[in-house]
Amino acid sequence: MPYARRMSHPHIEPVSPVLGAEVSGVDLNEPMDDATFDRIHEAFLHHGVLFFRDQQKMPEATQIALARRLGPLHTHPAAPTTDPDAAVFVIHAHRDSPVANGNGWHTDVSCDEEPPLATMLQVHTLPEGGGGDTMFASMEAAYETLSPEWRSRLRDLTALHESEHVYRGRYADRGVGDEDVVYPSAQHPVVRTHPETGRPSIYVNRSFTTRILGVDPEESDTLLRWLFRHVERPEFQIRFRWRENDAALWDNRCLQHFAIWDYWPNERMGNRVTVLGDRPFLDPAAPEPPPSPLRLSGGGLAPHGL
Ligand code: SIN
Repeated sequence: MPYARRMSHPHIEPVSPVLGAEVSGVDLNEPMDDATFDRIHEAFLHHGVLFFRDQQKMPEATQIALARRLGPLHTHPAAPTTDPDAAVFVIHAHRDSPVANGNGWHTDVSCDEEPPLATMLQVHTLPEGGGGDTMFASMEAAYETLSPEWRSRLRDLTALHESEHVYRGRYADRGVGDEDVVYPSAQHPVVRTHPETGRPSIYVNRSFTTRILGVDPEESDTLLRWLFRHVERPEFQIRFRWRENDAALWDNRCLQHFAIWDYWPNERMGNRVTVLGDRPFLDPAAPEPPPSPLRLSGGGLAPHGL
């Protein structure tokens, strides 16, 4: 009998009109045929973050092989890891953790010259009693809701992303020594063009972006304070409630995320693998998206219906 590979039929269900989709009908532990991979890749580009429910724990090699289908892997500059190639970042927080990874709005490792394109996280251990959700926010929606004047102003700007203040000593309790390490920093456009979809998005985040370059420090502080507040509006967000062994795959080129540490002293654990991206750029010739249909209220200056 010839060998017949089992076909998956992914079903993609949007989480919100702005970003995110749940994927069912796919077993990440089974070899994935090209048609299924292409369908998932298309949904990933469309929705920004995909959530795979009803999974079994993936061996590290399976997760690494799956992530590699998107491109070569990224090596984290500070991660506690279990494998010799440092491909797997073990996400682990418990009673004695001084920090929990990702507990603040950020884009993964935006301090790198070539930050990760995508991140795949599978959470194996959930905190008893709940909590440990992850929030995601669309930076395309954040751009599309700006006035033409602000779009144009931001498109001229470059920002500095640093990591010394984030990583120095961060994982000392997990055996990461960094006496001789120089942590990365990079300059990136404040608005970047997605290299695959051509869509623009805002590329500054509270964790790594420290300065807008070429303007007075006070103007930089004012702009960043306003931008951080704008990109964190609830209209751009979704919040994912994990179940055991759920996996998420997100596109770091067009969204930010925040892993909420609301479960101390309980334990949460999973494996994260990141795929290397290219250097962020702004394509001045890429078409401008139409104004967003979103009606912003939460966090705005004029409260509605309170
Ligand atoms: C991260 O920021 O990569 C961690 C996300 C999470 O633990 O949910």
